[in-house]
Amino acid sequence: MEPCQKRNGDRIRRLERLIEISRSLNSTLSLRPLLYQIVLAAQEITDTEACSILLVDRKSGQLYFEEATNLPGVHSIVVPMEGSVAGWVVQTGQSLVVPDAQADPRFDFSSKADEQSTFTTRSILAIPLIFREQVIGVLEAINKQGGTPFIPEDVEMLAVLGDQAAVAVQNALLFQQSDLIAEIVHEMRTPLNSIIAYADLMRRPTIMDVQRLQFAEIIQDEAERISEMTNNFLELARLKSGRAALAQDLVEVSTVIRMAMDVLRPQADAKQIVFSIDVPPNLPNVRGDAQRLHQVMLNLLSNAIKYCRPGDNVTVSTRCQEDQLVVSVADTGPGIPTDALSSIFERFYRVPGAESQVVGTGLGLAITQQIVEAHGGQIGVESEEGEGATFTFTLPVQQ
Ligand SMILES: Nc1ncnc2c1ncn2[C@@H]1O[C@H](COP(=O)(O)OP(=O)(O)OP(=O)(O)O)[C@@H](O)[C@H]1O
Ligand SMILES: [Mg+2]
Repeated sequence: MEPCQKRNGDRIRRLERLIEISRSLNSTLSLRPLLYQIVLAAQEITDTEACSILLVDRKSGQLYFEEATNLPGVHSIVVPMEGSVAGWVVQTGQSLVVPDAQADPRFDFSSKADEQSTFTTRSILAIPLIFREQVIGVLEAINKQGGTPFIPEDVEMLAVLGDQAAVAVQNALLFQQSDLIAEIVHEMRTPLNSIIAYADLMRRPTIMDVQRLQFAEIIQDEAERISEMTNNFLELARLKSGRAALAQDLVEVSTVIRMAMDVLRPQADAKQIVFSIDVPPNLPNVRGDAQRLHQVMLNLLSNAIKYCRPGDNVTVSTRCQEDQLVVSVADTGPGIPTDALSSIFERFYRVPGAESQVVGTGLGLAITQQIVEAHGGQIGVESEEGEGATFTFTLPVQQ
């Protein structure tokens, strides 16, 4: 075979392997295993003795060694922006080949790092990890096997891997930082653990049929709670991220209120809660998402029903104030303790004590607030313990 043909064959094989590796990078969202996968891949692709990945900490702006192959003990070392290869790459956003690291006076950090380990850095190829035009880290390949110099193809290959790696790392970082996800996982743990425990109990031979039925019901209830939580949570995440497209209907708020009351009247009647409505005629319309405003009313009214006692009253009233429509849902129920008022719209928050008696996910008011704010309005609550609660929200009037 001609040398040129052989080189082309090698290049195609390297590219194929690179594509294979790049695909596998998207299979994990956990940061540590992902970083290790990246350095292993970088070492294979560049045929080097060691590889490392460094990330820029978003908060402090410092550069940290995160993971490496064949470089024990480098994890979590802070690398200075001045006097280091990685720092140079972060600052310039360009890749860099250092053919003789020991002789290059610009990068004394590499030789200092070598002094602390048994490793000797001879040559370095470093490329920036760029996501949305920002350098989020650096991928370094150290010492080409056999002492040969880095060739342009190495730079090209590592750059392609770096592009894929940057996206995968960014996704993993976002996933790690998303407190929304952390919270849902946390909140789902309780119902999941109880499902596991009851399913386990059901399998015991000594369990009576009545008990088994009871356990099956608990499992079903808990599974339904998880299902509702996921639906609510997805809606909340959509609203928070601004990805939820709100319809722009011309909405007659009095109709929305009456429809929501009609839906919940059977539940109110069953609990002997008296619904009343105080809406003046000729209220101006608002521009917005009728479906979601209906949801707002359902959430507030269903809370009133859930937390009130038989014989309590729930009154919905509206008025116009300057260019705002003001809607209040007032109940004569147990009210909300003063120290809980500031947390009431937080996701998953439920007033301690009340939550054990009434089922709920603690997401209703968080969703309600998001919907109202997405319409350009505001929501608040006034309450004193034992004196009922009044939720009031505003919506800008359609001029
Ligand atoms: N009208 C009310 N009277 C008394 N407490 C209330 C009232 N409305 C809400 N709360 C308190 O606020 C908490 C949060 O309400 P939110 O609607 O967000 O969640 P939830 O009703 O517990 O669950 P869900 O997600 O199913 O609506 C409730 O758990 C309850 O403790
Ligand atoms: Mg609720």
